[in-house]
Amino acid sequence: MEKKNIDWANLGFGYVQTDKRYVANYKDGAWDDGALISDSTVTISECAGVLQYAQTCFEGLKAYTTEDGHIVTFRPDLNAARLKASCERLEIPVFPEERFLEAVSETVAANEAYVPPYGSGATLYVRPFIFGSSAVIGVAPAAEYQFRVFTTPVGPYFKGGAKPLTIRVSDFDRAAPHGTGHIKAGLNYAMSLYAIVDAHQKGFDENMYLDPATRTKVEETGGANFLFVTKDNKIVTPKSDSILPSITRRSLVTVAKDYLGLEVEEREVLFDEVKDFAECGLCGTAAVISPVGKIVDHGNEICLPSGMTEMGPVTKKLYDTLTGIQMGRIEAPEGWIHVIK
Ligand code: PLP
Ligand code: COI
Repeated sequence: MEKKNIDWANLGFGYVQTDKRYVANYKDGAWDDGALISDSTVTISECAGVLQYAQTCFEGLKAYTTEDGHIVTFRPDLNAARLKASCERLEIPVFPEERFLEAVSETVAANEAYVPPYGSGATLYVRPFIFGSSAVIGVAPAAEYQFRVFTTPVGPYFKGGAKPLTIRVSDFDRAAPHGTGHIKAGLNYAMSLYAIVDAHQKGFDENMYLDPATRTKVEETGGANFLFVTKDNKIVTPKSDSILPSITRRSLVTVAKDYLGLEVEEREVLFDEVKDFAECGLCGTAAVISPVGKIVDHGNEICLPSGMTEMGPVTKKLYDTLTGIQMGRIEAPEGWIHVIK
């Protein structure tokens, strides 16, 4: 199979249309058989639930080419489970988890020519999503839904790759207490757009959101969870009911404990503690682990000792081990790697 003529090394995190996508429709209380199709456009009612009341949720995972030439995904079962949780919270019928796994594999396999080669620095981002497709005008769940999976080859989420980021403490909230912060609802990202545009205009790479109830605890950014490293090499990561349960963060906790022998604390993290940490990283499928060098709180700068030129040493070990597992250089825990071909 011949790969597409793409400049893999210079890809950013953007949308590149690929050949095939998976589509299944829900009608009269059941999902149809689903199929791979070529048409990248969607035609729905002007009054569709997704357009009027944002009834939609999504997932994000990546397909990798391993050192020995296989195409694999990383823990897709956890994406299937998280999409189920998102659907349940949004009154969307669940797309069965087994079928989710098949749909992801079929879509990746059908777009094999777009899976970046091993060592290129790029990966194939996979975006499963579900939305209310039938008309609703009173506030209510739609009667019909569409589940789709498309793929797009991507490079680093943050421009500059592994260069440490500067983030700011946001005055806006991304999630409410007892709201939808713990699921991957499109509405959470709509909520964050004003804050991210404002952050970029002011020269920051991302927003650090604090807990909306007390504004004393660290939550997450618009698209990644936090991992901190203490001066005595412990990993600390925020625990909160209103952050997305990141698959990358959960995997890094295992990597830290079982591969690197580090102590890990998953607990509430006060913003006041941040000034005492040695390293800070943003972790997620898109972000992988992106190092943070500086956190600005209303003009007050916290400069992490790891500095602004490269990843801190513990973050680097976590990064190398996680990406080593994903690319097949390091043996993975049982069940983490899903071989597509
Ligand atoms: N937090 C938010 C708000 C996200 O959008 C994401 C991305 O999916 C993450 C965290 C990281 O989650 P994961 O590691 O499962 O990609
Ligand atoms: C992901 O990491 O998969 C996400 O969905 C985050 C988004 C900011 C791209």
